[in-house]
Amino acid sequence: MKQQESTWWRGAVIYQIYPRSFYDANQDGIGDLPGITQQLPYVAALGVDAIWLSPFFKSPMKDFGYDVSDYRDVDPLFGTLDDFKQLVQVAHELGLKVMIDQVLSHTSDEHAWFQESRVSRDNPKSDWYVWADPKPDGTPPNNWLSIFGGCAWQWESRRQQYYLHNFLVSQPDLNFHNPEVVEHLLDTVKFWLDLGVDGFRLDTVNFYMHDRQLRDNPGLSAGDSKSLGVPGTNPYSMQKHQYDISQPENLGFLKKLRALLDQYDDITTVGEIGDDNPLALMAQYTADNDKLHMAYTFDLLNIHRKPDYLASVIEKIEGAINDGWACWALSNHDVVRCITRWGAEEADQVAYGKVLLALVTSLRGSVCLYQGEELGLPEADIPFEKIQDPYGIPFWPEYKGRDGCRTPMPWVGDEGNAGFSSAEPWLPVDPRHNSLAVDKQEQQSDSMLAHYRTYLRWRKQFAVLVDGELSDVQSNAQGLRFVRYNDEQRLLVAFNLSDSDMTISLPEGNWQALEGHGFAFRLENGSVTLPPYQAAFATT
Ligand code: NOJ
Repeated sequence: MKQQESTWWRGAVIYQIYPRSFYDANQDGIGDLPGITQQLPYVAALGVDAIWLSPFFKSPMKDFGYDVSDYRDVDPLFGTLDDFKQLVQVAHELGLKVMIDQVLSHTSDEHAWFQESRVSRDNPKSDWYVWADPKPDGTPPNNWLSIFGGCAWQWESRRQQYYLHNFLVSQPDLNFHNPEVVEHLLDTVKFWLDLGVDGFRLDTVNFYMHDRQLRDNPGLSAGDSKSLGVPGTNPYSMQKHQYDISQPENLGFLKKLRALLDQYDDITTVGEIGDDNPLALMAQYTADNDKLHMAYTFDLLNIHRKPDYLASVIEKIEGAINDGWACWALSNHDVVRCITRWGAEEADQVAYGKVLLALVTSLRGSVCLYQGEELGLPEADIPFEKIQDPYGIPFWPEYKGRDGCRTPMPWVGDEGNAGFSSAEPWLPVDPRHNSLAVDKQEQQSDSMLAHYRTYLRWRKQFAVLVDGELSDVQSNAQGLRFVRYNDEQRLLVAFNLSDSDMTISLPEGNWQALEGHGFAFRLENGSVTLPPYQAAFATT
């Protein structure tokens, strides 16, 4: 039972592990839980606070684990429940918190619940998914679209009804309006809490509820921005998602979930939000200390080199968030790696990667770093014949799917498959990743990896960078600056995201340069000048 409120997660750095591609201990070409456990000392040495494991549950792997067929077991590809317990124990010994993914919004069509639900309209699970009659002309109940392409409804001839799937046809959406479903999902969350996890990343956290009346989504009006988080070439971005997602009843579920989590010590959540108005939802879902602890949106995950846009995101969230809490990320398993997206490959790649780390860890909020970000890996180039991601196929070649950020971690540059596995990996290693492998970077004192280790430790000394307030945002064509402050300190941070020197004015105050962070800059006459791709830190 809960002893006291702890906020270890505020300003924490969370390292995301994509288990298929981290390290392959049993040498079958697919990463696994024992492989992760083996490499945990490497993760701890980075100076991060927690790990988030993408799904490792039983799954037919149509969406590589985001299609769960048994919420309470480990897929044999990844190991066993005992392997998981061992992983948690080792992580805790190393001082790392363990967060796991919970994909509650939908299951796999191979989940026993769906297998039962789909056969008739009068079985005990018949109302566990979102079933609807066809329109009189036989067409689907409304105009909702699947993110992964096509209509969001699939016909089931046994029931003579359609079921809803916001993602693949093989990912039917659970019916959260049914209290029995909610009760069973909360029970699965409890199962993992009792195994000692420290938190959850909640997949598609605003997709749980749908409009009971199944009303059509409106199209975009003039001036509406296209929905963030999906490529602009996807018709999903051409609707306003008024009725299929982000329903008011979602708040009720989040409160029930939080009430369960609050019975345990030190648990946290980070919800994934994909919505037309994601920052407002991030603020709402994390407000009042009774729903989510943190949330992330795709606002920083889909953009590149645009200081004014970054400044506008910061100002918008600061204006909205009050007592809520953001979690920022520049890369993850769903988007093009930030080194490529920001054009760093055409610039001084290492310097660029360093300044991006400084930027994301200076924002007010927590941070997720994605495996390989610390090595500065560029997006891998995967030819169409090798594409595995089902999302990559319908929109090719304008959108190439997510395989390019999911290729194996390079551990040993001169070994086959970069030391990830002696078997052929499920996705090929990009040859450009060999020279960036962990063993190579460990031999260079000025590598990106070395910088990550130094910088993340340096940052920890400043409580103000971890959970201070944020003010004085200013941007120009090259970069931006802002201030973090608390009762003890004001700390100025500035970032030059361009390839020429940048000067930006300082807010009022007697600013003194800080040292030890590994960046170069000059403070003079009320302004700071930064060489290309440098960050500046000063305090009053
Ligand atoms: C969001 C996950 O991040 C993504 O990888 C997955 O495909 C969808 N949810 C569907 O579960």
